[in-house]
Amino acid sequence: MPSSTSSQKQTSRKSVRTSVTLAIVAGGSYLAVMVLLWVVLRSEAAEASEWVAFLGRFHFLILHLPIGFLTVALFLEVAGWFMKPLRAAGAAITPVLWLTFFGGVGATICGFLLSKTGGYSEELLNNHMRGGITLVGVTLLTLVAKIIFDRDRAKMIGLAYRALLFLSGGLLAFSAHHGGSLTHGEGFLTKHTPPLLKKLQGIEDPVVSPNQPKKLGEMEVYHDLIVPVMEAKCWLCHNESKIKGELRMDTFALLLAGGESGRESIIPGNPDESELFYRMVTDDEDEIMPPEGKDPMTPSEIQIVKWWIQNGAKEHVTVADLNPDSEMIPHLEKLLISPARKASEKKVAEES
Ligand code: HEC
Repeated sequence: MPSSTSSQKQTSRKSVRTSVTLAIVAGGSYLAVMVLLWVVLRSEAAEASEWVAFLGRFHFLILHLPIGFLTVALFLEVAGWFMKPLRAAGAAITPVLWLTFFGGVGATICGFLLSKTGGYSEELLNNHMRGGITLVGVTLLTLVAKIIFDRDRAKMIGLAYRALLFLSGGLLAFSAHHGGSLTHGEGFLTKHTPPLLKKLQGIEDPVVSPNQPKKLGEMEVYHDLIVPVMEAKCWLCHNESKIKGELRMDTFALLLAGGESGRESIIPGNPDESELFYRMVTDDEDEIMPPEGKDPMTPSEIQIVKWWIQNGAKEHVTVADLNPDSEMIPHLEKLLISPARKASEKKVAEES
């Protein structure tokens, strides 16, 4: 009966319009919330707020929802092409994409709060955040394309929907990878790559890194050994863009100038009285540096700082000048192959 099919068509038109409107409203509200948060949380006080820190940590829980849902949507789409019995399950893709979107909203909002608690590498953080927020937007576009495609099965819309779905998958991989590097450090995933796989992928061993032209004895203790460690573990809070405790550590002079306590960060010959060394070894969990939860100083790194201060803390003194004994040499060797050092060498190599 033509009349009933046309009325069916009309209801389906109407429900498509409602769904698309809902998607637009949801997207607009999301954007408004993000802008509002961005404005409200611009002050330094926000960084110290317990609420921000509390809600921020839920990022680590919620982020798994969009990952799981998007994987299901991709699976249902691709499986439907090859397995006829699964084609009917394709109807579930629309609700699953809604869930992906809402999961993404929760994850990015909490993630934004988490970023305010500080201490993350800015470059990785920005990539991760941009990737995550773009992913939420693209998920919503995928959803709208899918809703329209389900109505009129137009070829172009179908293509657009699939392209957007795979773009979402790519964005997910991109942001998840940067997120992993933020929490676990760069190189975490490949740290235990077996030698054979490493060869296949062209990953070098840290010991044979080509960016190590100087021999150990010629290295300057401060610039070549200590600075890379501070760059990896201290600079994120103590450099020109973020000056916690009013202490900058990105130049030798600023390091010597000390911070808000007024105590001297370095007293040559006396590590125990030097604030810099004291903050690395104190038992006081409110004072330990880097603060709890960040990549801590290793015993070898601490020993080298101590050794350098004991021997006068000169800016340009070399390892050979200080004549390391058999106790110091293993610490020095350990430092040279540490992941933090490798990461900073990689950065230097990329910049030059
Ligand atoms: C996550 C951020 C963060 C990181 C990373 C960090 N700090 Fe701090 N640091 C702070 C904050 C916040 C303060 C101010 C509060 C305080 O004095 O404890 C501070 C204060 C200090 C002070 C005291 C300055 C003064 O005289 O008042 C020293 C010294 C210091 N940090 C050394 C270090 C060293 C060394 C590292 C790396 C091993 C490091 N920090 C890494 C956040 C950080």
